[in-house]
Amino acid sequence: MNSIKNLSFIGICMAFVVIALGAWTRLVDAGLGCPDWPGCYGFVFWPNDEVEIALAESRFPMFPYDINKAIPEQVHRLFAAALGLVAILLVYLSFTKTKNNSIKKLSLFLLILICCQGLFGYLTVSLNLLPIVVTTHLFGGFATLTLFYFIYLKSRNFEVFNQINISKIRLIASIAFVVLIFQIFLGVWTSTNYASLACADFPTCQGSYFPEMDFRNGFNLNQEVGPNYLYGLLDNPARVAIHYSHRVSALFVTFIFLVLMSRLWFSDAAPLASTLGILLITQITLGIINVVYVLPLYVAIAHNLIAACLLLATFTVNYLAWRK
Ligand code: HEM
Repeated sequence: MNSIKNLSFIGICMAFVVIALGAWTRLVDAGLGCPDWPGCYGFVFWPNDEVEIALAESRFPMFPYDINKAIPEQVHRLFAAALGLVAILLVYLSFTKTKNNSIKKLSLFLLILICCQGLFGYLTVSLNLLPIVVTTHLFGGFATLTLFYFIYLKSRNFEVFNQINISKIRLIASIAFVVLIFQIFLGVWTSTNYASLACADFPTCQGSYFPEMDFRNGFNLNQEVGPNYLYGLLDNPARVAIHYSHRVSALFVTFIFLVLMSRLWFSDAAPLASTLGILLITQITLGIINVVYVLPLYVAIAHNLIAACLLLATFTVNYLAWRK
């Protein structure tokens, strides 16, 4: 069991790295930095010297080579592949080192999910950044992290958790989990549709509390991508609708989390309430900095990572609340 515990912990750390690298790739607009998959212009790493670059450009004449975009894209893929190897090893260990059936099922499911992630990584490139594909791929990243964490919790069996009984807060814990997932969807949709800077002011958006918005096109999941979707194709009101929804939904999330935290505070799990509170305040502050300071790279990546931490913290609350 020790080896499963250690390996799932390594998986959690690596999943965080892969999520951060994915955000970096997206934020420097490098999603099409390598036009082929899984190689990069036919190379395992990326073309480095003049000869390799000339060869790369002759292979893909329609895609001028930019090393600053190829590196983030290929580094992200290589780390994701390493994470896939960790998942394979985890399946092997769970079938040889433990009799716990739920760990076996979870690790198999995790491996299937990572394979699907690879497929979506391929589709991201081949379908030219189709927003619904990119969004699903990002969601898959958060789901992968959560599964590694779930396996870790199951293999670890923390002593302190046995003293906590919060089964009374199951309903609000579940609602918080669902609204957080919806908020993450809106954030990812904002990012994949290049709507991050659609409202450059705060708390107003385009100088108004009710700017012109086009929800129909903003949330049309089947939109056309043209030759490719780099920098987005939506009109301004559609982008504003996406960005505005993410902000307003953050208010709703805050309200639900305040209820959850107050219930946790007066239960056996007060430290979890403080953890959620600190993460939520950090996340909202990073979101506002993203807007006011025009999306600084490290802040945008941190906004992504804190969303992942919030997800794991909310998952922990649900794990404890629903545990038999
Ligand atoms: C509970 C609160 C929040 C959560 C869980 C959350 C989550 C997320 C997530 C997961 C993303 C996608 C990041 C990416 O794909 O790189 C995102 C993007 C974004 N969020 Fe939030 N967010 C929250 C609150 C806010 C607030 C209050 C603001 C601003 C007032 C904000 C502004 C943004 C912006 C501008 C982006 C796009 C950044 C990019 O292009 O990467 N967020 N959010």
